[in-house]
Amino acid sequence: MSDETAPGVATVPAVGVAPAATAMRTHLCGELRAAHDGQQVRLCGWVARRREHGEHLAFVDLRDRSGLVQCVVDGSVDVRTEWVVAVDGTVRRRPEGTRNPDLPTGDVELGDCTVTVLNRADTPPFPLDERTETDEAARLRFRYVDIRRARMQRNLRLRAAMVAAMRRAMDEQGFCEVETPLLWTPTPEGAREFAVPSRLHHGDFYVLPQSPQIAKQLLMVGGFDRYYQVARCLRDEDLRADRQFEFTQLDLEMSFVEPADVHAAVSRAVTAALAAAEAGDGSSVDLAGGDGAAPRRSAEALGADGDVLTLTWREAMDRYGTDKPDLRIPGALVDLSPVFAGSEVRAFQAPVVKGLCHPGGAALGRNRLDGLVDRAKQLGAKGLAWFKVAGSAGDVLLESPLAKFLSDAERDALLAAAGAVPGDLVLAVADEWRTACEVLGALRLELGRMPVSEGGRRLCWVTEFPLFDGVDEDGRPAAAHHPFTMPHPEDLDRLESDPLSVRSLAYDLVLNGWELGSGSIRVHREDVQRRIFDALGIAPDEAEARFGFLLGAFRYGAPPHGGFAVGVDRLVALAAGEENIREVIAFPKTQSGTDLMTGAPNPLDPRQLRELGLAPRPGR
Ligand code: AMO
Repeated sequence: MSDETAPGVATVPAVGVAPAATAMRTHLCGELRAAHDGQQVRLCGWVARRREHGEHLAFVDLRDRSGLVQCVVDGSVDVRTEWVVAVDGTVRRRPEGTRNPDLPTGDVELGDCTVTVLNRADTPPFPLDERTETDEAARLRFRYVDIRRARMQRNLRLRAAMVAAMRRAMDEQGFCEVETPLLWTPTPEGAREFAVPSRLHHGDFYVLPQSPQIAKQLLMVGGFDRYYQVARCLRDEDLRADRQFEFTQLDLEMSFVEPADVHAAVSRAVTAALAAAEAGDGSSVDLAGGDGAAPRRSAEALGADGDVLTLTWREAMDRYGTDKPDLRIPGALVDLSPVFAGSEVRAFQAPVVKGLCHPGGAALGRNRLDGLVDRAKQLGAKGLAWFKVAGSAGDVLLESPLAKFLSDAERDALLAAAGAVPGDLVLAVADEWRTACEVLGALRLELGRMPVSEGGRRLCWVTEFPLFDGVDEDGRPAAAHHPFTMPHPEDLDRLESDPLSVRSLAYDLVLNGWELGSGSIRVHREDVQRRIFDALGIAPDEAEARFGFLLGAFRYGAPPHGGFAVGVDRLVALAAGEENIREVIAFPKTQSGTDLMTGAPNPLDPRQLRELGLAPRPGR
């Protein structure tokens, strides 16, 4: 903007032209240091605070995207908090004793200031400092004010830096970024879809993509070999801390690969993103003057594939009772079946008995234990046995309603199998394998749950997911992932005879108990794809109607291929130490799917409805 277009803005002095300089300013607030002593500068920004010292002296803390600096005005100045101003002044060292070590610019101030008001502002709906807890509804309603705050500035800049690092990593690995359509056709990812009515074809709808899954497979048929996209995905599903309707994936697909190749490519991108977060590329802002911004976490970067624990799905379930284990929580499930093999206790006569040692858990009171039993039943177990380990190392006692039914040998075997010592609590569930694992896995999580910002970063790959996830109401297998996932070659011959035992070449990347991303090697042969549709109960004509274009493409030279999608919102939230992905999204929806700022979803006016061939809602 030139001076002519900005009335009231004086000519910019030709001093200290920093990269941030524009026609209206010479520097950013946060970059001023003692080295600028004596320089005449012009800053633009928002009034963070104003203090008057009598009639002759006023202090204005000026804030822009880079930080905050103190401006001193000889005389009074008529500005309020969040007014937009330009300040002309001279950088000078602050007098000894008035330096502010908490502020990066705290060694200096701007003296002899002239303040030009560029725009007035209403009183902000909530204080912008980080110390004040603000109701989230207000933050979302006035999001444009909220994102001025240090936390959101830091998170969104962190996000940008992490995405940029991932793009670089993908480019360096020879991936080509390709945009795929948003107005598309259903993609079977398991969620409900958002539909867009067609104006030109009344009664027909585009469907917004749940992911670029099919499009990226077509790009492989199209010879792209390595595709990626920072892709917006849309799913109409219940919103939670780690789920939004709209979210972003680092989506990729590769030809002529095995799972290890995909893991290596993903590892490199995720490592680069975490390294960027670590380097603070996005978080050099210190708008709070160092007084409230949450500390960034230290972290080990994700190393080469070999450095990250890989568990098969079965191992993950067996040890952690979940396919997204939180490895920060100490301890794993153990097999207690041999311990109770000859037990008289009826409760232990089940296909398996799984156990969990909760270190220090002997201190839990009866109410808490009863709560755990109730929770286990809620989760589907018939019951939960608990054993408090008391006494001393040489003379261990078990406290439990079941203790009297255990022989000394069973007690010793239980302690040895659980790795329990006095002070610990051992929990046991006897049931079908999957129920026993899942119930104890959920209790492990509840007992050990910790904030995302604690405990370091513990990543793992989970591989060989089952191809099908149980059966639906008609007794048909249901796809565990999407129906394009390649069955494990060793299990392919059981696809018809014993589908639920078939493993797949699907894999997830898990970070601190969050599913960070998932992918698979795909089916690339039409005959195998048809067998899977058959198993899923998708009749040939339905398969043709829904995925005919994909099946058609498979007839024209589809290479073996596989890919992955990283949930960018989740990755950034974890790097930022945030519990909810809303904190790393500029304009998110509430839990009930509304945008409090715009009011969306909103009614359309009758004319627009008519154009789309839709009827107004009765009563509107
Ligand atoms: P999937 O459905 O597992 O796989 O999604 C991949 C990753 O995307 C993130 N994610 C979400 N993040 C926020 N809000 C949501 N509603 C949401 N849903 C998913 C998660 C998840 O791990 N096409 C396949 C990938 C592939 O096979 O290549 C897919 O979309 O981090």
